[in-house]
Amino acid sequence: MDTITQVLQDSNLYRYKGFCFFKELMQPEYIDSLQDFEIREDDVFLITYPKSGTIWTQQLLSLIYSEGYRNGTEQMDTSERIPWIEFQSLSKIDHNRRPSPRLFTSHLASHFVPRGLKNGKGKIIYVMRNPKDVIKSLYHFEAMAAYAETSPDFGHFFQKFLDGEVFAGSWFDHVREWYTHKNYFNILLIKYEDMIMDLRSVVKQMCTFLEKELDDESLDTVVKRATFNEMKKDPFANKENMPEDFFDFKIGKFMRKGTIGDWKNSMTVAQSEAFDKIFQEKMGDLDLSFTWDIKLESHM
Ligand code: A3P
Repeated sequence: MDTITQVLQDSNLYRYKGFCFFKELMQPEYIDSLQDFEIREDDVFLITYPKSGTIWTQQLLSLIYSEGYRNGTEQMDTSERIPWIEFQSLSKIDHNRRPSPRLFTSHLASHFVPRGLKNGKGKIIYVMRNPKDVIKSLYHFEAMAAYAETSPDFGHFFQKFLDGEVFAGSWFDHVREWYTHKNYFNILLIKYEDMIMDLRSVVKQMCTFLEKELDDESLDTVVKRATFNEMKKDPFANKENMPEDFFDFKIGKFMRKGTIGDWKNSMTVAQSEAFDKIFQEKMGDLDLSFTWDIKLESHM
């Protein structure tokens, strides 16, 4: 087995094969065993780097796949409908006994996912978000999640993020690896910012990819029930059903701002410029652009 190293002193994260895992929640043996996890043709995996639109896309998948959820007659936690594959200790679900089509959620890097997916079996939706907003969102999330350590200030967290010393490791590695390996998978790449700017088009794109035909009225309902304001009212989307000691809702909420460009309210000009330089160095060779601000719509 590859080396397991501690991430920073006193951290509750360990690094394994380039990824940072929570010690109490994720075991390397289990993560390795996922390679052999048997994939079915109609499996769907939603994969993201944290804070890139996971809950939002879970909501969309729930609405697309379940008419009962769409018409409000079915109350079900999205994390039961679209469970995590890597958090074995959180969900005791036996995936092999689940009826098809099975929907999964994951934050894993592409080298950890079941090898069956690499043969084009099953479908993957990978959601990306501009990393400056990911930093901002993750900074707030860290403060409310009991299992993540809290940074004393934004500057401290900013550096930790750049060094990849946060859960899931480096954003640059995650996005780069998925993006450059996309041809090995049956994958749809989505950007959070495109969802913000034209959710209906993204939902249509998802439906085509998933081969799920929805009439116009159903499509409208999906879009309406997945807006930020609708989801803000939904206790499941806010993870209010999680064990009490998991999140401190006095500090923050899952459905926090849901916008593009909030990083500007925390990042200094110097931090932003330093980030841009690193972004160019690490990602500049990729044919991949992000929207950094909703008004300027500037691309890098
Ligand atoms: P902010 O903290 O910037 O508000 P994840 O689900 O991957 O953890 O991502 C959480 C981020 O997605 C949060 O970002 C949250 O507000 C945002 N989000 C969730 N649902 C959303 C929606 N319907 N519209 C816009 N943003 C949404």
